[in-house]
Amino acid sequence: SAQLNELAVRAGLKYFGTALREGAINNDQQYARILGDTREFGQLVPENGQKWDATQPNRGQFNFQSGDITANTAKRNGQGLRCHTLVWYSQLPGWVSSGSWNRQTLESVMKTHIDNVMGHYKGQCYAWDVVNEAVDDNGNWRDNVFLRVFNTDYLPLSFRLAKAADPDTKLYYNDYNLEYNQGKTDRAVELVKIVQEAGAPIDGVGFQGHLIVGSTPTRQQLATVLRRFTSLGVEVAYTELDIRHSRLPASSQASIQQGNDYANVVGSCLDVPGCVGVTVWSFTDKYSWIPETFQGEGDALIYDRNFNKKPAWSSISSVL
Ligand code: XIL
Repeated sequence: SAQLNELAVRAGLKYFGTALREGAINNDQQYARILGDTREFGQLVPENGQKWDATQPNRGQFNFQSGDITANTAKRNGQGLRCHTLVWYSQLPGWVSSGSWNRQTLESVMKTHIDNVMGHYKGQCYAWDVVNEAVDDNGNWRDNVFLRVFNTDYLPLSFRLAKAADPDTKLYYNDYNLEYNQGKTDRAVELVKIVQEAGAPIDGVGFQGHLIVGSTPTRQQLATVLRRFTSLGVEVAYTELDIRHSRLPASSQASIQQGNDYANVVGSCLDVPGCVGVTVWSFTDKYSWIPETFQGEGDALIYDRNFNKKPAWSSISSVL
């Protein structure tokens, strides 16, 4: 029977993908086998390996060991690659976040970083998350070293630097909680316009999709918010989808609800021309960032800890 990437491609998407957890791939054969099945996952994204703290922990010292795990796995299996991420306040080494910079010196640091990291993966990435999480949950510009030095000029600057480093990859803005179509979404729409009006290139907006069982918007609500971005001329994708139970253990009713929520998200992507694909933020409850970050919550993914397909898997496969 058909698997998720096959079904997604048949339904008109470019891919159904997953994040790769760098620590798991070499120690867990079952994990590697499912992750590497191109019928199931057509595209991979490194969970942590391409972030600033991994790629340039000290100034001028580049390290691609962790990022290459995902890039090499994708190459070996014939899978696509999403690349994540360049300009972000988190997992940003202290030498950047607490340096004393002016526009000139910080631009030079950003250029060196972007040139080296994008240069290393040049030609391999379907898309790059150039800027990640630039808006806070109240819809204000998120305070970070880049905003403090450049105000919002760091947004077009980042996209310009990225275009120069790899002209052939799609350049994305990526964020969470855009799905609820509130103040944060308004600000993200403004972000796209700021970049466009500055004459800088932006190709896509990534909806991370870190959602909660029972509080996930409807398919129609989700399609409406996706269209706010496609109408600006950019593509969209769900880039880090997981739908967590806020209370554990999940009842069987809650597992079915989780499946319905997943179907709404994937269905909304099918409803919107310009929504290109869906990536889950890891695929098994055995390896998920949720319990590490949201205490007491979890079981957010489509396979259980023993690599059995959950109702969420079936529910996605039926909507595709
Ligand atoms: C998370 C990873 O999954 C964790 O392993 C890590 O400890 C923290 O970052 N938004 C993003 C992702 O863009 O990079 C984050 O990934 C989850 C939230």
